[in-house]
Amino acid sequence: MRVIKTKDYADMSRKAANIISAQVILKPDCVLGLATGSTPIGTYDQLVDRYENGDLDFSRVNSVNLDEYRGLDKDNDQSYRYFMNKHLFSRVNIDVAHTYVPDGSEPDSSKACADYEAIIENFGGIDLQLLGLGHNGHIGFNEPTDHFPKNTHCVDLAESTINANKRFFEKEEDVPRQAYTMGIGTIMRAKSILVVVSGADKAEILNKVINGPITPEVPASILQLHPNATIVADEAALSKT
Ligand code: GLP
Repeated sequence: MRVIKTKDYADMSRKAANIISAQVILKPDCVLGLATGSTPIGTYDQLVDRYENGDLDFSRVNSVNLDEYRGLDKDNDQSYRYFMNKHLFSRVNIDVAHTYVPDGSEPDSSKACADYEAIIENFGGIDLQLLGLGHNGHIGFNEPTDHFPKNTHCVDLAESTINANKRFFEKEEDVPRQAYTMGIGTIMRAKSILVVVSGADKAEILNKVINGPITPEVPASILQLHPNATIVADEAALSKT
């Protein structure tokens, strides 16, 4: 696992965007695995800048997102599909028909998850998977548990995740209790992985991810075993490492 220390959030966002840009330039029809959360927003802004400068072309890029809330329709402004449209897809020349997010409006969770896993398989896997890090070490919505889930599945969100995400909803009871997420196996099969982490509030968990034992209680710790994983984190996030 490579760890790249950056000065601050802006520096982290630029470096992460540089890595994604290299992927898009080297393989214009690549499959990008994308993430939501506040951390990657600066990275997306940087990608938009590079697109506007004429340095990046997304016309042949495909994307698959990590996760989606179960029960939220794509037009709901709290859905991850809405987030992606707003922060990236509507701002670059990606073909929206080539962008995939699990279907939160599909009530049959086995179907939603099997369909999504099949989409990724049909692509021949993910070239570069971008990840944020939850405060409890989750990636996607793979919450701490007693095993590493292999494939896309439906999860019950941890209380801490519901609390962390309630700031985006009007009322706490509006926060969905379940989500569809790529499994740890789905993520680990990506050819390369890029994790962005910022802020002192992530320092303790990031230290466990990098230096702690590999355990499903800290889901991101499994990234220690990935042959091509890079963490781009700012000084504050690395302050306890
Ligand atoms: C959510 C997402 C994760 C994300 C995490 C951290 O739970 N499902 O993919 O990494 O939040 O978000 P933030 O970057 O806002 O701290």
